Amino acid sequence: MLFFVDTANLDHIKEASELGILDGVTTNPSLMAKEGISGDNAVLQHYQKICEIVGPGHDVSAEVISTDYAGMVKEGKKLAELHENIVVKVPMTVDGVKAISHFSEIGIRTNCTLVFSAGQAILAAKAGATYLSPFIGRIDDMSWEGIDLIKEIVEVYTTQGYETAILAASIRSPLHIVQCAKAGADVVTCPLSAIKGLFYHPLTDIGLEKFLADHKKSQLS
Ligand code: G3P
Repeated sequence: MLFFVDTANLDHIKEASELGILDGVTTNPSLMAKEGISGDNAVLQHYQKICEIVGPGHDVSAEVISTDYAGMVKEGKKLAELHENIVVKVPMTVDGVKAISHFSEIGIRTNCTLVFSAGQAILAAKAGATYLSPFIGRIDDMSWEGIDLIKEIVEVYTTQGYETAILAASIRSPLHIVQCAKAGADVVTCPLSAIKGLFYHPLTDIGLEKFLADHKKSQLS
């Protein structure tokens, strides 16, 4: 399972990259706004910076703002030309699916976002999306089990042999990451805090403290 960080914060991306386990980055308009990035040029420059931090071979999802087919195609082409790492993120709408299908025909990689059902997942795979982003945290927020959607899509994609990668999004905790790994997601995109939460276990800290204390004692005797 690949690890992407879900942020437009350059410090978080650098820190995740330095951990040595980062495979890519996803962003969305809300995350860009959170970093105070506004205006077309500033947004494009920010994507460029993200691509440079993560380096070659690390996919960076950049989302289109247009909602009509022609606008999505124009914007997506501009984003894809920006850097070889860019994957064009397109919402799950009628125009979005048409745009994904077009991008697939001309060799531009895509991430179909805002996916909340197995039916939508089928449409994105049929259109040739590179990645599919089901949002599990937002389903949990409505008191349904978000992870059940990942399990259902894994079953459908395995049965049908679809090649679209399942990129579990709206991850809120380390537990979500473990659940996604068990369910068979291809990728998880998470806030840095959720990735860092995977490291900690009190028995690791206690065990290390004892190893070091025993080593120190053995040096004194
Ligand atoms: O990038 C899309 C997704 O990960 C958003 O997460 O926490 O805003 O539901 P969240």
